[in-house]
Amino acid sequence: MPILTAEQVEYTYQTKYQTIYALRGVDCAFEAGQMTAIVGSSGSGKTTLLSLLAGLDVPTKGAIRFQGQSTAELDRDAWRLENVSVIYQNFNLFAHLTALENAAYPLYLQKRPRKEAEEEAAAQLAAVGIQPDQFGRFPRMLSGGEQQRVAIARALTAGSALILADEPTGNLDEENSQNIFTILHTLARERERCVIVVTHDMELAMQTDCTLRIQSGKIA
Ligand SMILES: Nc1ncnc2c1ncn2[C@@H]1O[C@H](COP(=O)(O)OP(=O)(O)O)[C@@H](O)[C@H]1O
Ligand SMILES: [Mg+2]
Repeated sequence: MPILTAEQVEYTYQTKYQTIYALRGVDCAFEAGQMTAIVGSSGSGKTTLLSLLAGLDVPTKGAIRFQGQSTAELDRDAWRLENVSVIYQNFNLFAHLTALENAAYPLYLQKRPRKEAEEEAAAQLAAVGIQPDQFGRFPRMLSGGEQQRVAIARALTAGSALILADEPTGNLDEENSQNIFTILHTLARERERCVIVVTHDMELAMQTDCTLRIQSGKIA
């Protein structure tokens, strides 16, 4: 059974001068243990769909369901804290925290003892290939690929069932992009996470378990 579904999802942006129909009836389903790619041209609605899947907003019409329950009926802030991690193109690490502290951050929020949080964070950093001598570095002292791996480690310490990434390799070279995709795919499979990645890169998209193409706000 899918962990996350979109049912006849529509989303409109209302600006002062116009109504923009960003999603026009999207149906799709996502499984735990699988990595899905969302592809499509610029402006087709990928980021809008990902935001709804992440519970940052709710559909104008239709529903997003997590384990059968509509996100419109959930306490979304609490739900997201427990179940959703989002990874962005610009790595979005805290600049004033070290790699270790960034990775431990979700556990600080959960009020776990600092030592325990940092042991867990160290284990997850190691799992994504960050070396112990890099744990004390601030993001600016890490390469883009390393920063993105710290962001993935942070998603892992959070323990989220859903890991959603919007163009996570948009700022990385080919080798690092491949590396990030492999890490995400492995953790989907080995840790039963539901991983959904928006990408422009068809070659990377082809490696996932499933690819959704979105075109003018609809699944093509
Ligand atoms: N905050 C916003 N206000 C108004 N229109 C928006 C906003 N965000 C996105 N849009 C519009 O919604 C459509 C889908 O955008 P988006 O989901 O960002 O596409 P993609 O991520 O595929 O490039 C586009 O026409 C875009 O211009
Ligand atoms: Mg986008």
